[in-house]
Amino acid sequence: MKKHYEVIVVGGGIIGTSIAYHLAKAGKKTAVFESGEVGKKATHAAAGMLGAHAECDKPGTFFQFARASQQVYQQLTIELKNNSGIDIRRHDGGILKIAFTESDRERLMRMAALDSAEWLTAEQVVDMEPDVTKDIIGANFIADDVHVEPIAVCKAFAKGARLFGADIFEYTPVIAIDTDSGVQIQTALGTVEAEHIVIACGVWSGPFFKQLGINKSFYPVKGECLSVWNDRIPLVRTLYHDHCYIVPRHNGKLIIGATMKPKNWDERPELGGIKAIIEKAKTMIPEIDKLKIDRCWAGLRPATVDGNPYIGHHPINNRILFAAGHFRNGILLAPATGEMIRDLIIGQPVKPAWIEAFKLERTEVVIE
Ligand code: FAD
Ligand code: GLY
Repeated sequence: MKKHYEVIVVGGGIIGTSIAYHLAKAGKKTAVFESGEVGKKATHAAAGMLGAHAECDKPGTFFQFARASQQVYQQLTIELKNNSGIDIRRHDGGILKIAFTESDRERLMRMAALDSAEWLTAEQVVDMEPDVTKDIIGANFIADDVHVEPIAVCKAFAKGARLFGADIFEYTPVIAIDTDSGVQIQTALGTVEAEHIVIACGVWSGPFFKQLGINKSFYPVKGECLSVWNDRIPLVRTLYHDHCYIVPRHNGKLIIGATMKPKNWDERPELGGIKAIIEKAKTMIPEIDKLKIDRCWAGLRPATVDGNPYIGHHPINNRILFAAGHFRNGILLAPATGEMIRDLIIGQPVKPAWIEAFKLERTEVVIE
């Protein structure tokens, strides 16, 4: 193993692999160190919605960042296929954010002001998706909120990074980061130095923040999902209500998600959680009850106290950077995060509003 890289990325989820891809493509000698297998933690659990509108209901920097990342995906779909041979299975149906009540509708109408969202009546929705319950009063249709297959994106980033010269070490946890002379990581394979180290360990980033003198905490928000074999519901668009969704995948299966269980570190799905999302899905498509279960799973969303990720430099050591805490939107935000970390390292301009919003030393408003 080499003993020196220009950049070491700690963590091989979608955030770490996107960073490695963008840096390796820019010519930086990069290595990723991953505790287990690439993309097998939160990334593997995700539904893959690029829900810039579905997940943000107010304008502002977070929405702009999300929208920029969503737009990068348009060209990435082709680029990753060309550079890695992997199809990220972009599904262009968009999202129907449905309303059952007047208060749902009012919330959605505020969201429609963001851009690109179109209000549809119940009749219009049922014309488009005949299996949706007749109990709705309408929906916001967002054509741009498409979805991809997260594990395919992560594998494409990792393979593309390798083909641009990066090394990816799986089953190689980083035990510690030293900053006494230069910057170095400790692994079971020995000590490795770098010009820059990027911490991208999702919800497991907390101990490294602490080691590096940063007083920020992460907590998991466990999400449980299931997939079902679908031979009777010709769903084209993702249905979304109250943080729950039904996503039609390319392979014909439907993904039904997801619970929100804060501070639960157990990565196994619970019967109660799966039951709750099946009940929720039935309120959107009553016929879903008849479909056969494929599998159930759970993952840990990396949450921060204000709901925004930390993306940027260590406040006093420019050789250390952080990219963690992407909560419900790591798949959506991976391309913009990869580009932003690349630009910070190679000295290209980054939008000041993004630096301010995601820097570590921001003033945080705690979300409930
Ligand atoms: P992870 O994927 O968790 O990767 C972190 C990696 O760091 C892991 O592979 C881990 O093994 C590694 N690691 C940890 N410690 C060390 C160490 N010491 N040394 C080396 N490696 C280490 N987002 C969307 O945008 N759209 C969605 O539709 C969506 N749906 C979701 C549904 C569910 C049920 C869940 C749980 C999440 C969903 N998300 C979604 C959120 C998304 O999955 C996360 O935001 C994203 O995966 C975070 O990526 P990450 O790379 O930061 O973390
Ligand atoms: N973004 C969907 C989820 O986190 O469940």
